[in-house]
Amino acid sequence: MSHQYKIITIVGARPHFIKVASLINALDPDRWQHLLVHSGQHYDVNLSDRFFKEFRLPPVSYNLEIGSQSTNRQIADCILKFDQVLEKERPDVVLVIGDTNTTAAAAIATKKRHITLGHIEAGLREFDRSIPEEINKLLIDAVSDLYFVPTLTGMKNLAAEGKKTNVYLTGDIALDLLTNVWAYPDITTLRSQFDLKGDYALMTCHRQVNTEHLEHLVQIIDAAAALPCPVIFPVHPRTRKALEKVDLSNRQENIQWVDPLGFWETQQLIRHARMVLTDSGGIIKEAYFHKVPSIIIDRQTEWLEVVDEGWSVITGPDKAKILEAFHTFKIPQQHRMSLGDGKAGKMIVQILETYLDAKRS
Ligand code: UD1
Repeated sequence: MSHQYKIITIVGARPHFIKVASLINALDPDRWQHLLVHSGQHYDVNLSDRFFKEFRLPPVSYNLEIGSQSTNRQIADCILKFDQVLEKERPDVVLVIGDTNTTAAAAIATKKRHITLGHIEAGLREFDRSIPEEINKLLIDAVSDLYFVPTLTGMKNLAAEGKKTNVYLTGDIALDLLTNVWAYPDITTLRSQFDLKGDYALMTCHRQVNTEHLEHLVQIIDAAAALPCPVIFPVHPRTRKALEKVDLSNRQENIQWVDPLGFWETQQLIRHARMVLTDSGGIIKEAYFHKVPSIIIDRQTEWLEVVDEGWSVITGPDKAKILEAFHTFKIPQQHRMSLGDGKAGKMIVQILETYLDAKRS
C-alpha cells in the first residue's frame, strides 16, 4: 500500500483557479489528501467565486481574507495567516502557482517552516524589477524545492541562475482544461449577447504599468476606439478605478465596456476574435493556444515563444504601434504548440509522488 501524502495548494487571484483545477483533477484521492486554501486576495464574485462553479473546485478549507491592501501588507498578512494553516495542518508539500502576491507570501511561509515547496510556472522572467510580479517570481524561485517550468525559455532562465536540480519542463498547466471543447458556450448566443455581426477584437488591460499611468491607459483606449471593428473590453476592477479619472466621452463608440467575464465565455470570445489586445500573460497564452493573433499592450512578456513564432506583437501602450500592428498583422505559417500539450497536471503529480516517495525511503 503506497503512502498517502497531505498537499496544500493556495489560490488567491483570478489566474490561479484554472491552474489549480487541472492539478486537482490529476490528484488520486487514494494517494493525496488535498486542502485548498484561498488567500482572499481577489474577493469580487467576478474575479473569484464564479470560477469555483465553472471549474467545479472543491470548497476551500481556509479563506485567509487578506483582501486589497498595499502590496507589503497583503504579503505580510498572507504570510502570517498561511503560517497558522501550516502549523495546524503540517502538510507534506505545498504547491504554489504563478507570481502573485499570494504566491510569494505562501512560498516564504512554507520554506520558513521547512516544508517541501513546489512552484508551478517556475523560471519565467520579464527582466524588469519595477514589475511587482517580477520580484515575486525571483523570491519564489529562490526558495522552491521543485520547479515546474512551462517553457524552454523558463528552463534556460533557471539554468542561467544556476538552478539545475528538480527542474522539470512540464508545459503550461493553464492549457490542460482548454481541450474540454464541451465546456465552451455557444458562439451564436454570445454574438447576439454582445451584438457582434462580423469581425471583432477582445481587449483586456489590468497590469499596474498601464493602470497607474493614465497616459498609457489613454493611448490604449484611443487605439481601441480607432479600430475598424467592435472591441469587447471586460474591465478589471483595478482598471475601472483608474478609468474613473479619464474623460472617455469621445472615446467609446465601438468599445463595449463589460464586467469581467467567465472563463469559458472568455475562451470562446478569444477563439472567434480577429485579434486580441492584452497585457495579461494568461490571455496571450490562450490566444496562442486557439491560434488567434494578439497585440501585447505591455512593454515585454515572459512568453517569448509566442512572440518568436509571430503569433504576438509587443507594442506597449502606444496608439500608433497598436494600430500598425493591427493593420499589418500576418497570420504565421507555424504553430509549434511550444507551451506544452495540455498534460502538465498529471506530470506534476507524478513527479511529486516520486520525489516524496524517495524522501521517505
Ligand atoms: C493580481 C496579480 C496579477 C494577476 C491579476 C489577475 C499581484 C501582484 N498581481 O493583480 O499578477 O494577473 O491579479 O487579476 O498579485 N480589486 C477589487 N476586487 C478584487 C480584487 C482586486 O476591486 O476582487 C481591486 C482593488 O482595488 C485592488 C486592485 O484591484 O487594490 C488590485 O488588486 P490586486 O489583487 O492587488 O492586483 P491585481 O491587479 O488584481
